[in-house]
Amino acid sequence: MKVLVTGGAGFIGSNLVRALLARGDEVRVLDNFSTGSRRNLDGLERDVEVVEGELRSYERVHNAVRGTEVVYHLGALGSVPRSVQDPLTSSAVNIEGTLNVQLAARDEGVRRVVFASSSSVYGNQPELPLRETMAPDPVSPYGVAKLAAERYCVSFSRVYHSFETVVLRYFNVFGPRQDPTSQYAAVVPRFITAIAEGRPVTVYDDGEQSRDFTYVDNVVRANLLAADAEGVSGRIFNISAGSPTSVNELADTIGRLLGRPVEKTYLPPRPGDLRNSWADIGEARAGLGYEPQIGLEEGLSRTCEYLLNGKER
Ligand SMILES: NC(=O)c1ccc[n+]([C@@H]2O[C@H](COP(=O)([O-])OP(=O)(O)OC[C@H]3O[C@@H](n4cnc5c(N)ncnc54)[C@H](O)[C@@H]3O)[C@@H](O)[C@H]2O)c1
Repeated sequence: MKVLVTGGAGFIGSNLVRALLARGDEVRVLDNFSTGSRRNLDGLERDVEVVEGELRSYERVHNAVRGTEVVYHLGALGSVPRSVQDPLTSSAVNIEGTLNVQLAARDEGVRRVVFASSSSVYGNQPELPLRETMAPDPVSPYGVAKLAAERYCVSFSRVYHSFETVVLRYFNVFGPRQDPTSQYAAVVPRFITAIAEGRPVTVYDDGEQSRDFTYVDNVVRANLLAADAEGVSGRIFNISAGSPTSVNELADTIGRLLGRPVEKTYLPPRPGDLRNSWADIGEARAGLGYEPQIGLEEGLSRTCEYLLNGKER
């Protein structure tokens, strides 16, 4: 099967590309290398067709989509703080870019688009765990953009005959190839590198806020299932590990795995950040046959090994 992965040079996209190749798919990547890098596709140069291009250009997107059966749309500007600093670019890439992907997929007769949405669409809900039936109430511009984009996906599956979309809401993904150095780096690679180097970790808020940290292989698996599951077009699924961990606990677990002391520096909460996030994954279990296979500790230990020793298991 010929498939397109937008954002295929990014953290999650490049892990998905490897899984698709391993099962024999023909893979094309569309990426502008803004937050992703060619390094993430090292060793795959001969197996993957890379199209360097911008999601905001319909023409570029259309060329990349041509001839594919499934499109995994992961290309986006991630990070809540980035969207707070620059909501306009976040909106253009994350909404308009998604619209371009949907339009091109519709025009090219693609069978299904699988879209990477985010837990940030929920905002601070009064009840946990978070269920897909809850009314979204995003706090950050990033969450607003992801919500608009996922509504376009659902709309397209309703108004265009035989056009299929599936929306996956990822929760705090971590694993090999996640960038530890960017100004907007996610908490897991930041903590691992700081603790390994004996530096204090920076914790925003009191560290008792929780996240449903999800190892990347689980998300990759969810994507493969979402491309083929029957009767799920137009539906939205939470994808996570299905259990909450506080940020303090996360730091302590990494310290224990590395056999290092953990010193925490506390700073005020950042605008746009949520207090608690924890998903009910019952819908994904029932509709996709999804089951998280790698738990937090195993995932963290694999990520440490990759980040610190360059080894992948
Ligand atoms: N990492 C997480 O915890 C998480 C959680 C929820 C949702 N998501 C979503 O999953 C997807 C992948 O995230 P990731 O963590 O791998 O991030 P990433 O930044 O590593 O990957 C995004 C990729 O998109 C590319 N890209 C960005 N803007 C582009 C543009 N204008 N044109 C073409 N390509 C562009 C980047 O170069 C990068 O390779 C994103 O849609 C993100 O919003 C991630």
